[in-house]
Amino acid sequence: VSCNSTPSTDTATETGLSEADSLSYLKKGKGIAASSFAVLSGALQKAMQEGGVSNAIDYCHLSAFPLIDSLSQIHQAEIKRTTLKVRNPKDRPNEVEAAVLKKYDQQAAKGEQLKPFVTLADGQRVAFYAPIMMNDLCLKCHGKIGETLAEEDYIHIQKRYPEDEAVGYVAGDFRGMWSIQFDR
Ligand code: HEC
Repeated sequence: VSCNSTPSTDTATETGLSEADSLSYLKKGKGIAASSFAVLSGALQKAMQEGGVSNAIDYCHLSAFPLIDSLSQIHQAEIKRTTLKVRNPKDRPNEVEAAVLKKYDQQAAKGEQLKPFVTLADGQRVAFYAPIMMNDLCLKCHGKIGETLAEEDYIHIQKRYPEDEAVGYVAGDFRGMWSIQFDR
C-alpha cells in the first residue's frame, strides 16, 4: 500500500509550519532575497560601468561576502547563496542544501517552474529557499567561454578562482539558490 500512496500535499505535515505561517515566512524570505539581489546586482553593475568586467570580477571577489554579511545583519537572518557548480568554494552547499539544489535541478531539466519555499530547519528556525536563474548580464561572467564570456575575462576569473565551475550557462538556466534562515 505505502509504495502506491501519493506523497502528502498538506503543507503543515511536510514543512512543520501551518499554512498561515508558511505564507508569511515565504513573504519575508522573498523580501530578503529580492533586496539582497538588488544590492548585489546594483553593486555589480556599478563596478562594470566603472571598470568593465575584470574590475567587476575583482569587486565581487572582495565584496560579495562582506555585502552578504552586512545584509544578514540588517535582516537578522543568515543569508547564503549556494550552487552545485561553485565559483567561490565557500559557497558550497551543505547536505540539506545539496538535496534541495538537486531537486531544483531535476525540475529545471523537466522544464518545470522553480518555486521558492519555506520549511523548518532543526525544528526551530525557518529555512527559506529560492532559485537563482541566469539572465544575459550574468553570462558576461558565467556564460560560454569565447562566446558570451570573453576569453580574457575567463583568464581573469581563473586567476581569482582556480577551481571555478560556474561557467557554460545560457540565459534562463538554473544557476543556484538563496538559502536563508531566520528565527520564527
Ligand atoms: C562581473 C562578473 C560577474 C557577473 C556579471 C555575475 N557574476 Fe556571479 N559571481 C561572480 C564572482 C566573481 C563570484 C564569486 C564571488 C565570491 O567570491 O564570493 C560569483 C558568484 C556567484 C554566485 C554564488 C555561488 C558561487 O558559485 O560562488 C551566484 C549564485 C552567482 N554568482 C550568480 C550570478 C547571477 C544570477 C548573475 C546575474 C544576475 C551573476 N552571477 C553575474 C562574477 C559575476
